[in-house]
Amino acid sequence: MGKNKKKDRKHSEDKQERRVEKLRRRGESDFVEVRGSVIHGQGVYCIDPIEKEQYFIEYVGNRVSKEESEKRALKQFEEHEKSGAAAVYIFNLTKKWDLDGNVEWNPARLINHSCNPNSEAIQDGKRIFIQALRDIGVDEEITFDYGFDVDCYEDHPCRCGSSDCIGYIVGRDYHDDLADRLAAKETSDVS
Ligand SMILES: C[S@@+](CC[C@H](N)C(=O)[O-])C[C@H]1O[C@@H](n2cnc3c(N)ncnc32)[C@H](O)[C@@H]1O
Ligand SMILES: [Zn+2]
Repeated sequence: MGKNKKKDRKHSEDKQERRVEKLRRRGESDFVEVRGSVIHGQGVYCIDPIEKEQYFIEYVGNRVSKEESEKRALKQFEEHEKSGAAAVYIFNLTKKWDLDGNVEWNPARLINHSCNPNSEAIQDGKRIFIQALRDIGVDEEITFDYGFDVDCYEDHPCRCGSSDCIGYIVGRDYHDDLADRLAAKETSDVS
């Protein structure tokens, strides 16, 4: 490789490293830490009281075009078919861009789902933040509603442990629909 090409490559690698470092710092939070979760695998826990409506961690990742994002979502879906993990890392940013948070420097990617979540992911400009839906105390696990569709509900059993857990990872908006489907299934199983 020529001297100039080597120099260019080094320059673009350094630039990329600086970009990731900046995003890694943006994704850090003094309010939470990653721990083994009672819900699933790793989770994110509160270590300093969080007030209702507070933005307490940014959901960082790589900005990708819609076309690239569709490819990645498909890949995550295929991985899901093999491993049982779901494609939950891509957020809509603008008409042109999405955010793929499936990177090790995004601790917020480890937030688990709950049927009675204490947080939600919200967009502020071109950034995504996790905002508290209520006051959150130390040692509480951070959760949000993944908003999954009801169609493949059986693929995603929910272990959120909340008293109103509907049994499957399905968005709040679909809970009534799911309750109807579960009731119909129970009736047909009995008869
Ligand atoms: C974005 S990851 C969350 C982090 C995950 N706990 C880990 O250790 O990688 C999403 C995956 O976590 C699991 N998960 C999240 N919330 C769950 C819940 N309420 N019940 C069961 N599994 C859950 C599912 O396997 C889901 O596909
Ligand atoms: Zn649940």
